[in-house]
Amino acid sequence: MNIILLGPPGAGKGTQSAALVERHAMTQLSTGDMLRAAVKAQSPVGVRAKEVMDRGELVSDEIVSDLIDANLAAMEPGTGAIFDGYPRTAAQAEDLDALLAKHGRKLDRVIELEVDVDALVERITGRFSCANCGALYHDTANPPEKEGVCDVCGSTEFKRRPDDNEETVRTRMDEYRAKTAPILPGYEQRGIVSRVDGMAGIDEVARAIDSLLA
Ligand code: AP5
Ligand code: MG
Repeated sequence: MNIILLGPPGAGKGTQSAALVERHAMTQLSTGDMLRAAVKAQSPVGVRAKEVMDRGELVSDEIVSDLIDANLAAMEPGTGAIFDGYPRTAAQAEDLDALLAKHGRKLDRVIELEVDVDALVERITGRFSCANCGALYHDTANPPEKEGVCDVCGSTEFKRRPDDNEETVRTRMDEYRAKTAPILPGYEQRGIVSRVDGMAGIDEVARAIDSLLA
């Protein structure tokens, strides 16, 4: 299965991708994570992307589609892909169709996480992750079981994203509304969109997604 998780910043795409990787042995392809890795490595792509990401705007279609192409090429053919944060523009949606065909795959489902955008700022400003393994947490909704210790790897080092401040989040929301939401009708016409209530608890959302994939 190859699926897109679609939803605005803070909808839970990364959280639910991690759960799917664990339960269904799928591979998460998060362009945000790929770009943050490039920024950290100070690669040419990372250097170009950093300022754009810090402003909350979208990096170029070419950069992200090339990242997806390279990651699809490296995947085992039988392993399903979860597209997290890609595609985000009409051009990227077209690129994805071409890339899936190139790599002998097809798009099975687009899962839209339906959320109340006003509630998302709190989700995002409360987010942090393990500095060692990347496990995602939230100050109140999803803290580690033992305070200050990662549930997954036991690390005591955590970090917050530089773009997780209120001003940048507003720009990211505007970008979503203007450029990403308009790609949904095209997938609806193909009859492959399912909606899940993204405001439910994390486990409940995971169960709803599971039942769609069953
Ligand atoms: P990206 O990394 O993709 O960020 P985003 O789309 O803004 O989404 P987030 O990662 O903020 O949210 P999420 O939906 O993953 O939520 P999460 O699960 O973490 O992109 C960052 C930047 O990179 C972009 O702004 C752009 O510049 C660039 N970029 C990336 N891809 C691009 C592309 N294709 N084209 C162009 N530019 C691109 O959850 C959030 C928090 O809420 C967590 O703390 C979590 O614990 C908590 N939480 C999750 N689910 C629940 C729940 N059900 N109930 C309560 N709390 C919850
Ligand atoms: Mg994410």
